[in-house]
Amino acid sequence: MTLKWWQTAVFYQIYPRSFADGNGDGIGDFMGMTAKLDTLKELGVDALWLSPHFPSPMWDCGYDISDYTSVAPEYGTLEDFKTFLEAAHRRGLRVILDLALNHTSDEHAWFLESKSSRDNPKADWYVWMDPLPPPSLRDASPVSNGRNVGGREGVPNNWQSCFDGPAWTYAPERRQYYYHYFMKQQPDLNWQNPAVKQAMWDAARFWLDLGVDGFRLDAIGTIYEHPDMPDHPVPLTLAEMRLASDRAKTDAERKQVGDYWREMFQYQYGRPGVHDLMKELRSILDEYDGDRMLVGEDDDVNYMGDGKDELHMVFNFPLMRADRLTPAHIRRNQAERLAALAKVSPQAWPCNTLGNHDSPRIHNRYGDGEHDRELARLSLATVLALKGTPFLYNGEEIGMTDFYLTDISQFKDTLATWYYREAVEKLGVDPAEALHNAARQTRDKCRTPMQWQDAPNGGFCPAGVAPWLPVNPDFAKGVNVADQRVDPASLWTFYQEMLAARKSNPALLEGDYLPLQENSETCLAFLRRADSQTCLVVLNFSDQPDLLDFSNLPYREMQLLFTSGRPPRSMALDAIQVDRFGVLIAEVA
Ligand code: NOJ
Repeated sequence: MTLKWWQTAVFYQIYPRSFADGNGDGIGDFMGMTAKLDTLKELGVDALWLSPHFPSPMWDCGYDISDYTSVAPEYGTLEDFKTFLEAAHRRGLRVILDLALNHTSDEHAWFLESKSSRDNPKADWYVWMDPLPPPSLRDASPVSNGRNVGGREGVPNNWQSCFDGPAWTYAPERRQYYYHYFMKQQPDLNWQNPAVKQAMWDAARFWLDLGVDGFRLDAIGTIYEHPDMPDHPVPLTLAEMRLASDRAKTDAERKQVGDYWREMFQYQYGRPGVHDLMKELRSILDEYDGDRMLVGEDDDVNYMGDGKDELHMVFNFPLMRADRLTPAHIRRNQAERLAALAKVSPQAWPCNTLGNHDSPRIHNRYGDGEHDRELARLSLATVLALKGTPFLYNGEEIGMTDFYLTDISQFKDTLATWYYREAVEKLGVDPAEALHNAARQTRDKCRTPMQWQDAPNGGFCPAGVAPWLPVNPDFAKGVNVADQRVDPASLWTFYQEMLAARKSNPALLEGDYLPLQENSETCLAFLRRADSQTCLVVLNFSDQPDLLDFSNLPYREMQLLFTSGRPPRSMALDAIQVDRFGVLIAEVA
């Protein structure tokens, strides 16, 4: 079987602002990233995904882009980017960039021009609507249609942004509202306009011409809206919904919030049209040599088109959407996911991840407070041993944890500062509860600077310099790269060994997935079967050793390839011993 590079690669997501500060200003940059390439190579990853590196006013930590064809000055220059790309390629590391298609920054020249008047050349580049006339002129219905959410007369409808209240913001220059799915500083582009497409495709070409290997496409589900813009039926504002989510205690309450969330955004998300757009972008990538690739920030496998004409991959987010990673959850997820992919095309390729810059750290999400480190190993083993391309998030390899901020002035994620203010000022929430909720909802908690060594600021930036977000002080307790690199028992070393095991065993790269022992509550066991090799994988999620019987399989011999602990005493297929929280990978024949 001949696989493409992006099918065998393990991707590593770099959050540039927090990765490595090369010039000592407290902010990560390209000089810093370039200097760490050897370390990443040593870890054993193959490809890097950079969260946005473009100029940005940073209302959404770089996902509000004000210029698609240059580099944020605090990260360096275009020359620094080229140096980084060349250095990565020289080491055999591929690089993909993050492309936000749905929206730009409100400081992007396109938007400044668009909002300047109703008849400028870019007047139609964003989603503009006239204010609604006062209700007396509209209809005689006494029933409120919710269009005054936020107390604003004239808003085109009751849609909410998923980050900061009403989805419509008034621009006095045009005496019109513009639409934004995210913050008001992130106006939605009007993708019905061919000139918008052209401009964005030119930007994509700019980076492809420089040699980047592909893109992670941000929030593709939000690109189009329902053309009639009907009101949603949810009787809450965004802040009220977030609060309801924080206060939900029972399953029924949690389900209600989930339903509300879906209903609130039903006209703003997953609209038709995206498929054609993805086809257009794919055809541009296919003009280039080197198998450039696209991965979509969406879990809908239909964005892979017929398997060849849209995206190369979409993320298996349902795998990570769980409070605990259990064998039953993983088995269910794989059964559903692989079946859905098979319907797309026999070649449709899975893509597994358990964390990124928007989600809690693996320790906090899947840990039990007692065996977090052991469970973190199992999380890695899961994404590396399942079929598909794994995406890892920087810092997980040393077991970085969520860092809860304690003072609202430290927060950088405006989603959380907005929520805090709304809760305190409009919903009357006690500031201590609001701070607690904001600290848990903010994405700052998983974006704190990378911890390189037991040194001031965790070695991220020089002593005496204030890092852009506080560094988690647990760098002094062994949560840092330098200490773990030389410790054979560290999480870093485990990552290194598992990455190497994956790379050297074809079954782990290309083999199909066959679940075994499907009733086990504590062990996840499966086969990965390729033409040249078959591997048995067993992950024990419990704190007790387990003895498993695989004698019903048509294999007689077993050769140990990888184990997280001591080699098992017996390698007989009818009595395989797996340590507590153990990982065992064996070749069977
Ligand atoms: C998804 C990104 O991952 C997230 O960080 C960002 O805030 C939104 N899209 C908006 O671009």
